[in-house]
Amino acid sequence: MNTTPIEPAVLTFRDDGQPWSPRYDDIYHPHAGAYTQARHVFLQGNGLPDRWQGRDRFVVLETGFGLGNNFLATWQAWRDDPLRCERLIYISVEAHPLTRDDLARVHAASPAPDLAAALQDAWPPLTPNLHLLAFEEDRVHLMLALGDVQAWLPEFVASVDAFYLDGFAPARNPRMWDQRVCKALGRLAAPGATLATWSAASALRAHLTTAGFQVKRSPGIGGKRDITIGRYAPVHVPRRAPARTIARAAVATLSSSAPHAIIIGAGLAGCATAWALAEQGWRSTLIERQERIASEASGNPAGLFHGVVHAQDGVHARFNRAAALMIPDAVRIAIERYGIAGAIDGVLRLDDDESHARVRDALPWPDDYVQSLSASQASAKAGLALRRPAWFYPRGGWVDPAGLARTWLARAGTQVDVRCGFEVHALRRSDDDAWRVLDAHGATIAQAPVVVLANAAAALPLLGRPAWPIETLRGQLSLLPAAACPWPRPRMPIAGAGYALPVQGDGSILFGATSQAGDDDATLREADHRANLAQLERLLGHAIEADAARMSGRVAWRYSAADRMPVIGAVPDESATGPRLDQPRFVPRLPGLYLHTALGSRGITWSALGARVLAALISGAPVPLEASLIDAIDPARFVSRQRRRATPAETSR
Ligand SMILES: Cc1cc2nc3c(=O)[nH]c(=O)nc-3n(C[C@H](O)[C@H](O)[C@H](O)COP(=O)(O)OP(=O)(O)OC[C@H]3O[C@@H](n4cnc5c(N)ncnc54)[C@H](O)[C@@H]3O)c2cc1C
Ligand SMILES: C[S@@+](CC[C@H](N)C(=O)[O-])C[C@H]1O[C@@H](n2cnc3c(N)ncnc32)[C@H](O)[C@@H]1O
Repeated sequence: MNTTPIEPAVLTFRDDGQPWSPRYDDIYHPHAGAYTQARHVFLQGNGLPDRWQGRDRFVVLETGFGLGNNFLATWQAWRDDPLRCERLIYISVEAHPLTRDDLARVHAASPAPDLAAALQDAWPPLTPNLHLLAFEEDRVHLMLALGDVQAWLPEFVASVDAFYLDGFAPARNPRMWDQRVCKALGRLAAPGATLATWSAASALRAHLTTAGFQVKRSPGIGGKRDITIGRYAPVHVPRRAPARTIARAAVATLSSSAPHAIIIGAGLAGCATAWALAEQGWRSTLIERQERIASEASGNPAGLFHGVVHAQDGVHARFNRAAALMIPDAVRIAIERYGIAGAIDGVLRLDDDESHARVRDALPWPDDYVQSLSASQASAKAGLALRRPAWFYPRGGWVDPAGLARTWLARAGTQVDVRCGFEVHALRRSDDDAWRVLDAHGATIAQAPVVVLANAAAALPLLGRPAWPIETLRGQLSLLPAAACPWPRPRMPIAGAGYALPVQGDGSILFGATSQAGDDDATLREADHRANLAQLERLLGHAIEADAARMSGRVAWRYSAADRMPVIGAVPDESATGPRLDQPRFVPRLPGLYLHTALGSRGITWSALGARVLAALISGAPVPLEASLIDAIDPARFVSRQRRRATPAETSR
């Protein structure tokens, strides 16, 4: 998916007070009122609220988020319904979103003022992403895709129950209603999916019919004689790629009580997965070999989170941005509700002049995602003299990772059973489609239809050590107590080559870290403290007096894939043969077996998004990440790359 910067809507009001778009020369909703239209056309036209009653999950997809009135009316109807579904997921695409100020303006007299205010509070930076806005203790999710509808629809991985088609009038806004759009809707439709739109255009009806929808007229409102409603009833149901189907065994358990997964490893990856599965209504058993959770890589005293910018905005930058947009919410809850140490006051990432100018000129990013600062502007932010320009990530910050992991388990509540002090030595698939995880003596520790390997470098040995390019890197961090820092402390974390993290409260500075492949020495080394001190001097731009022989710190290991992306998704069947294996999504999978590993040096930033992506893949919920990025983190990418190398002629055909 190519990155196109988002141009916000220019919102104006006509003399009669109707919100109007000069870009499309059209009104946002009919004179009869946005909520009247939402209830009559979109809710009633899709058989709502009846159709969601008693359901575990109901998924709506809207084309054209606009002012958000349809979303607010749907959320309000869900709230008002005592028989509402457990989870409402509302996906919407918008090319020209309102700014937060315009959103406030347009909802100043909203019939649902509390919901409108919550939407404004959660309004994201206007970047071309699939933003996840969570409400009602995670029971209502708005997945807001910013960008063009035709670019986004093929990127959704979702099974949709109801479509709201709400572009501007087809004559003024044809891209929202054409054959490609209708075909893409058919690809996303769940069995029995319905659609509704105020448009009665015959060309639209023809496109929808070709895409497998049976459409009919229904009485309109507000001077409109007819609207269109429809049901998905295709002659042939398109087959989904293996990576996009829920594990068969898992589906079987969906109809029983809460479906159940085993997670191996209780670091950031495993704890976040337990939380994200609980969010989807799943129970999990979390097995950890240590006596305490988060005591290996995730046991560092503190760590940073922030985005990444790159001139090409390739998969690495895009995945990091998606993750950096999601993690602040989890950290905010950890700090505010659970008293975990951390702050979301921003992070400065130093750059060299040439690369800074190149990236700055390539893409305009909104200020609430990242700001380009000169050395003097960066110095003013940091409170000390810096010699290089910097990227300032206002939603970046730092947190105690083990504390964050604990809050994920607290949020999963009784949905997770944590079992520390058990080391998994082997996995066995039994005849009843369950996985058993075994200890060193072959005894079963637990069994479930789904297993997630979230045990960092120890995951691949449990899979028979597939030859994937992932390596273990030793890292030593150093810590200077407040008394040893007589120089001005930065007001916020500073990163570049390494980082300096002023830990709030005790005045100490955490810095480092080293990166050593093939090194399993767990002792703190004086030479590494010296290397970290030299790096700190380069970052802060002044000499530092400290006795490396007496410094404290911590050693841990990062587990990093060569392409610097995490490994998240269903375990590929490496013995599989068949067509299109050069694309990860077409590689067959081992049923019920998943990975959440290789978080490298970004486990804090990545774990919330990674966990939600994985929980969605496991449970069949809409995935909060675009398909091209799901492919980029899919464990099957290693298999696909091998196939591409093995048969270059075939793949180029
Ligand atoms: C020096 C250093 C600095 C870092 N700084 C940052 C930073 O600033 N920001 C950031 O985002 N990231 C940072 N990271 C990276 C971050 O710490 C990791 O990405 C993250 O902790 C990995 O989490 P994890 O859950 O995958 O692995 P881990 O935390 O290692 O968890 C894996 C768990 O699995 C358990 N386990 C393994 N095998 C078994 C088994 N067979 N049975 C049962 N349990 C098992 C282990 O005991 C462990 O608890 C840093 C890492 C290092 C080393
Ligand atoms: C009628 S308004 C939607 C009103 C909205 N559903 C509501 O409840 O407020 C149509 C919206 O479609 C958006 N739009 C137009 N063309 C688009 C495109 N190609 N891709 C995505 N969105 C588009 C417009 O910016 C506009 O906000």
